[in-house]
Amino acid sequence: MPELVRYELRDHVAVITVDNPPVNALSPGVPEAIEAAVARAGGDPDAHAAVLIGAGSTFIAGADIRFFETITTREASLERSRAIHTRLRRIEDCPKPLVAAIHGTALGGGLEVAMACHYRVAVPSARVGQPEVLLGIIPGAGGTQRLPRLAGAEFAIEMCTLGQHIPVTRAAEAGVVDRILEGDLLADAMRFALEKAQSDGVRKTRDRNTGITDGAAAVAACAQARHGLKKTARGAHAPYAAVDAIQAGIELGFDAGCEREIEIFAGCVLSTESRAMVRLFFAEREAAKVPDVPKDTPTREIRLAAVVGAGTMGGGIAMNYANAGIPVLLKEVTQEALDRGLATIRRNYETSFAKGKITRDHLDRTLALITPTLTYDGFDQVDIVTEAVFENMDLKKVTFAELGRVTKPDCILASNTSTLDIDAFARASGRPAQVIGTHYFSPANVMKLVEIVRGRDSSKETIATAMKVAKRLGKLGVLVGNCFGFVANRMIAYYMREAYLLLEEGASVSEIDHALTKFGMPVGPFAMQDIAGIDVGARIRQHLRSIGKHRAEGPESPVPDWLFEMGRYGQKTGSGWYRYEPGSRTPIPDPLVDELARKAATERGIERRAVSEDEIIARITTALANEGANILQEGFAARPGDIDVIYVYGFGFPRHRGGPMFYADTVGLPTVLERIRRYHDQLGDHWLPAPLLEHLAHTGRTFYGSQAG
Ligand code: 3HC
Repeated sequence: MPELVRYELRDHVAVITVDNPPVNALSPGVPEAIEAAVARAGGDPDAHAAVLIGAGSTFIAGADIRFFETITTREASLERSRAIHTRLRRIEDCPKPLVAAIHGTALGGGLEVAMACHYRVAVPSARVGQPEVLLGIIPGAGGTQRLPRLAGAEFAIEMCTLGQHIPVTRAAEAGVVDRILEGDLLADAMRFALEKAQSDGVRKTRDRNTGITDGAAAVAACAQARHGLKKTARGAHAPYAAVDAIQAGIELGFDAGCEREIEIFAGCVLSTESRAMVRLFFAEREAAKVPDVPKDTPTREIRLAAVVGAGTMGGGIAMNYANAGIPVLLKEVTQEALDRGLATIRRNYETSFAKGKITRDHLDRTLALITPTLTYDGFDQVDIVTEAVFENMDLKKVTFAELGRVTKPDCILASNTSTLDIDAFARASGRPAQVIGTHYFSPANVMKLVEIVRGRDSSKETIATAMKVAKRLGKLGVLVGNCFGFVANRMIAYYMREAYLLLEEGASVSEIDHALTKFGMPVGPFAMQDIAGIDVGARIRQHLRSIGKHRAEGPESPVPDWLFEMGRYGQKTGSGWYRYEPGSRTPIPDPLVDELARKAATERGIERRAVSEDEIIARITTALANEGANILQEGFAARPGDIDVIYVYGFGFPRHRGGPMFYADTVGLPTVLERIRRYHDQLGDHWLPAPLLEHLAHTGRTFYGSQAG
């Protein structure tokens, strides 16, 4: 077994290297070995100082997340946390200057180890963070205690409640990092360590309080943070817990603060919130692995891309390529449409520039990568084309036939369709093996999710390339099958169906939206539709009716179609489910919508009643999980985690609830099944349990458990 931590004496400096690929996580054995190496340095007569560094591409990226699920009791958590706290104290007690040399990332337990060192130096590209909150926990190795002592309560609160990985320049300004080193990290860190051995000597973070000289102000910052979290935490508990631990350290001192941190951590790590977020962490990474497409499947190199259609989606997709440094042709049919598309793209970049996110030079260079065109000239050179024309089957067929003719034989032909049958137009291209769906979410340049839709004939090489391209564009690609609406839009149809029916039964638009935002969604279903456009769904329904189909099983409420007929498309027309004052996006409840709901209820013979918040949540989440189970069973998603990732990234399902499938697991599948049966009796035959859900509930299993079994 290779050594997890190496000790080497170089020019009177003990160099301690953590070597636990891929990210030098603090797996069992690593903290112990770091402690032993630091102790050795302390006693080594030839070592004047020590440097702690990571092998490979990063410093320590935190605790080993795989082990959190093995903590099953409070006692076990307390014991483990006390052990790591004790180790870090011993490391901090090293009698010689100990310098953490950071490259890549120092995250979570990694930053906590670095803060137990006496000094921190880093390369300019390094990032640091306390991302525990994104796993439903708080820093558990002294982060809530040492960070405020170095950088102040406000900074620590921001780091521990948002969980962002921040650039090292900001960390240096805040006092977390002592020096940014432009040259060779190890050589410069060794020089820095020897310098400290001759000047300042050791400096323990736990004895410092540069950050919290004014205790009252620090406590006030905690109170203010809790207030702010009411809006931003969206029902998650861990951010509040992090503030509690920080405040304890300010009020009670370092030792008692550490003890509070240990206790609070134990509460968090055993919570459903943490289990959900840890599952999601792994689900996000698993999504990149396609069961029947091996890792070593050959992929195409993408040097030049093209996008057909410069509308909102096409323009956003072209921006993605340009942002990744890939030149892209952007084709439209008319000069006017092309100019409009380019103007929007320019406006987006100007906004980023105005906000200080990019420089003028970056803006100019990125824009120059987008070449507008009205013809297919140059398409014979591109490696991938993404079609983003109007969502119409005939138009897609014509476009794919043209693309088959004008592109080189091995060019990948991707479609940004959000609902249409890939196979139907793949054939028109003459080479369906190279055709794949890449369903971006709007705004395409912002949203991280891309559903990669596998057609019947999509080759493994095409799939592997599409997944790789998604990653290169900074997106999260999830492979799905070719059914109507794929995973995201197929499920949203059930989500919306239930919302419409609840409205007819007696809940108001704002009651339903409020229940879902309280549950943790960023916006409720009606406010969301007012943003997306009521016309979009109405047109899809019209098309489906024309071919004798419908989007979701069960009765179709007429209310959204009535709004569409009235020209109430949502925010863009000043009214939809809500009304909006000119220039404002604040939704104002509109009695007219209640009237329409009453009318629909009368027509369908529904007796209106008061609907509780719990029922709204139960109905809507049950509809989602049930349809998710059908999707899984039919093979249109490979894993429950893929569905959860799609719903979390595509529609903002609260991360701390893990996604609709994990949430159903936590409710308990027998309870979910019992609800479906009850809804069937009360509401109609469209409420039928998905066979997979029924089977799992009967056999005492869960969606995620079924995956393991
Ligand atoms: N524990 C276990 N495995 C980890 C891990 C961790 N902390 N961090 C990453 N990995 C694994 C991933 O699962 C992945 O495995 P796979 O190849 O088998 O799928 C592999 O390492 C590479 O990870 P990524 O694909 O994410 O690689 P990137 O280069 O894109 O990103 C990263 C690297 C920025 C380090 C990212 O992995 C990350 O954010 N990791 C999590 C960091 C984190 O949350 N740390 C805090 C942990 S909690 C903690 O420290 C508690 C403490 O307070 C006590």
